[in-house]
Amino acid sequence: MTSLMKTRITELFNIERPIIQGGMHYVGLAELASAVSNAGGLGILTGLTQASPALLAKEIARCRDMTDKPFGVNLTFLPSFATPPYPEYIAAIIEGGVKIVETAGRSPEAYLPAFKQAGIKVIHKCTSVRHALKAESIGCDAVSVDGFECGGHPGEDDVPNMILLPRAAEVLKIPFVASGGMANGRSLVAALALGADGINMGTRFVATQEAPVHLKVKEAIVNASELDTRLVMRPLRNTERVLNNPGVQALLAIEREKGEHITIADIHSHVGGIYPKVMVDGEVDAGAWSCGMVAGLIHDIPTVKELLDGIMQEAQMLIRHRLQNCLL
Ligand SMILES: Cc1cc2nc3c(=O)[nH]c(=O)nc-3n(C[C@H](O)[C@H](O)[C@H](O)COP(=O)(O)O)c2cc1C
Repeated sequence: MTSLMKTRITELFNIERPIIQGGMHYVGLAELASAVSNAGGLGILTGLTQASPALLAKEIARCRDMTDKPFGVNLTFLPSFATPPYPEYIAAIIEGGVKIVETAGRSPEAYLPAFKQAGIKVIHKCTSVRHALKAESIGCDAVSVDGFECGGHPGEDDVPNMILLPRAAEVLKIPFVASGGMANGRSLVAALALGADGINMGTRFVATQEAPVHLKVKEAIVNASELDTRLVMRPLRNTERVLNNPGVQALLAIEREKGEHITIADIHSHVGGIYPKVMVDGEVDAGAWSCGMVAGLIHDIPTVKELLDGIMQEAQMLIRHRLQNCLL
C-alpha cells in the first residue's frame, strides 16, 4: 500500500504527502521542520522565533543540514510590541535559498515582489474567504484556510471549517489547505472532501517526539480535551485561541474588568514573553499559549514519521474501504 498522495499542494511544493506543519512560535525550529520534511510533508521554520535575521540565517542552515527535502519559513505579521525588521528577515530567507514562505497575520502584498523575484512560492494563512481571495488576487501561490477551531489566531469572523472550507472551494482558483482542527486520517479525507488540497497542522505537531519543547507542554496537550481552550484578546480584535490555565484565567479576569476600555498594556504581562517560559522551561500555567480545540483528538506523543505514516494509512483505508463501500 503506497502512502504517498498527489494533490495540487504536493505538486506545488514538490512534497510526497499533502501535510504542512504551520509556523509555531518557539516550536518551529529545525528539529521539527526537518522531521516533517523528512517524513514527506512540508516543515516550516518560524522566522520571528529567531531574535534577529542573522539567527534566522543560522537556523535555515541548521535545517538544511538536517534535511535535503523542501522546507519553508513562516513570517508572521501580527501586532507586536516592537516591529521586527521584516526586509532583513526576508533577505535572510532569500539568501538562505529557501523557496517556500508561509505568511500570516496581515496581507503580504508589500513583500510579494521580493519573494517572486527570488522564485519563492508563498502560501498565505488566512481566516476568511475574503482574505483568501485577496491573497489570490495579489499573486500568492496557495492559501492555508484557518477555521475558528484553530490554535493561534482564528480572526474575528468565527466561521468553523465545515463551512469555511467548502466556501473557499467555491471561489478560489489557487490550491488551499485546511487548517485548524486537523489531526488524523479522518481530518485529511474530510479536508479533501470539503475541497482542500491538503492539511496544515499546528497543535498536533507540538505533541510529537521531535517538537523541541518541554515534555510538560506535550503532556498538557495530551491531557486536554476539546473543551479546554479559551479565546483571549477578543476585546482587542487580536483573538487568540489558547490552552486554559491559571494564567489565562487571570488574563480573562482583567479583560472582564476593563471591558471596552482595555489596552494591550493591561494584559502585557500575561501575553508578552510567555512562550520561552512555557516551551523552554515547561511552565505551562504561566499565561497564554496557542492551542487548538483539536487537543481533544490528541492522545499520544508519536514521532513525526509515525504520525504522518498513520495519517496516510488511515486516509487510504477510509478512501478505499469506508467511502468506496458506501457506494451501491
Ligand atoms: C503553539 C503554537 C504557536 C503558534 N505560533 C504561530 C506563529 O507564530 N505564526 C503563525 O502564523 N501561526 C502560529 N500558530 C498557528 C499554526 O501555524 C496553525 O495555523 C494552527 O495551529 C492550526 O490549528 P491547529 O492547532 O488546530 O492545528 C501557532 C500555533 C500553535 C499551536
